[in-house]
Amino acid sequence: MLYSPVVEAAPDERPRPKMSGPALMVIFGASGDLAQRKLLPALYNLVQKGLLPADFTILGYSRTPYSDDEFRELARHGVEKHADVEFQESAWAAFAQGIFYVAGGYDDPAGFARLQARITELEGFRPTGKNRLFYLSTPPSVYEAVATQLGQADLVRPAGESCWTRLVVEKPFGRDLASAHALNDHLLRIFDEDQIYRIDHYLGKETVQNILVFRFANGIFEPVWNRNYVEHVQITVSESIGVEQRGGYYDKSGALRDMVQNHMLQLVSLIGMEPPVAFDAKAVRDQKVNLLRSIRPLAPQEVGNYLVRAQYAPGLLNGDALPAYTDEEGVAADSTTETYVAWKLEIDNWRWNGVPFYLRTGKALPYKVSEIAIYFRRAPHMLFSASNHDAEHISRNVLLIRIQPDEGISLKISAKQPGPAVKLQPVNMAFHYGSSFGSTPPDAYQRLLLDVVLGDGTLFTRRDEVEVAWDRVSRVLDGWQMQEAEARAQGAPLRLPSYPAGSWGPDAADHLLAQEDQIWRRDL
Ligand code: BG6
Repeated sequence: MLYSPVVEAAPDERPRPKMSGPALMVIFGASGDLAQRKLLPALYNLVQKGLLPADFTILGYSRTPYSDDEFRELARHGVEKHADVEFQESAWAAFAQGIFYVAGGYDDPAGFARLQARITELEGFRPTGKNRLFYLSTPPSVYEAVATQLGQADLVRPAGESCWTRLVVEKPFGRDLASAHALNDHLLRIFDEDQIYRIDHYLGKETVQNILVFRFANGIFEPVWNRNYVEHVQITVSESIGVEQRGGYYDKSGALRDMVQNHMLQLVSLIGMEPPVAFDAKAVRDQKVNLLRSIRPLAPQEVGNYLVRAQYAPGLLNGDALPAYTDEEGVAADSTTETYVAWKLEIDNWRWNGVPFYLRTGKALPYKVSEIAIYFRRAPHMLFSASNHDAEHISRNVLLIRIQPDEGISLKISAKQPGPAVKLQPVNMAFHYGSSFGSTPPDAYQRLLLDVVLGDGTLFTRRDEVEVAWDRVSRVLDGWQMQEAEARAQGAPLRLPSYPAGSWGPDAADHLLAQEDQIWRRDL
């Protein structure tokens, strides 16, 4: 059963995307991977779609010496390969005229003096409105240095003047509560909170934004969105790659820091939050913070009851052999970093009390999918005999929010199979982004960059939000450290459970749900 859009709004009734004003965007770490794969292609797309001004100005800054033209050439490769609009020479030539470059170190006053001079020069002849957007696409180890240098070079104008200065900070934002707190303190000595945009690219994904529309623009879901009707929630973010060339970074991070603290807790907050009083940055983020605060904080000795962690062992992934995680380049042979984590998360508030949110994420799983499955309680009394079908299947409605791929939302319901007998079968009522809107959603960075230029912080994480998420995650990290210290004290250094690459994770994750008579979704 496929449901397509019931009534399409007439073209002239559709809300028009907002066009942003002029600005100068400085990309720190401009020669790096993120700038080439995501930022420059997103800016090109936005200009071609008329959402950023045609004469938008980009100034790259990184350590590698390039002339403006050499950097334009580099940018061209990134755009040609990764932009979603068709690459056209004339459009590129116009776009490239707005690209400039300065080389310098991230803690180097002389480099920032050159940057300052170049910005002043560009503001003299480019239509930037003197609006400045600084994007930290550098290793996190230099975030504080760059912010300090920006302050010392007098490049940050106070909030409230006629032109604006904004700072975008990439993840990871700290590696535990203490470091996130210290980074916030540091940045807030130089910028106001309203000037800081902490990126979580999951919030730029169309289907993630759709969660709020789905919940709060439809009257029928909110009344059942609570402990009376929902039995449990499963959130899966699986990836069908190993750590690839990122072993060095990943081994210091792990799945909990890399995926759960940010992306997955953001999904939890959007699914679980109370309705905001308005759709604006403050109201939405206030409610998200409230939800995150309701996540049950774990004591170190409880962590083993609620979380499972594991590492991938050798296996076949998409037909190719993948080595064990501990044999990957950049990974310590005795590493205890998790490539898989599952968390039975409890939310202690009126709406969700007693409704577990099961989270799982991992590398080297069979395929890439991000989805949220809301399991509703069974029908209170089953009229139809279960002998003709699996009772498990027929009695439970599951609402599936598919973030990627095949973006969409579907509801599993029971239907009668055609024929003389009453035989039940689960079927899906489904909305697919592609077939309903005739397009695939744009890359998250387009939406997020546009929002920064427009000054809309709704899809960015606020200081208190980041810190409460880190608080819950740091408690888990403390528990894991305790487990490791205990194992060392007993003379048997901890080895994590493993799962073969290409499988759905360790048995322990199945046991976590089996304790409550549940199973992980299999037909993903
Ligand atoms: C990043 C993580 O934040 O998200 C990566 O650092 C991960 O390890 C990536 O691969 C997944 O993002 P997406 O958009 O592909 O689901």
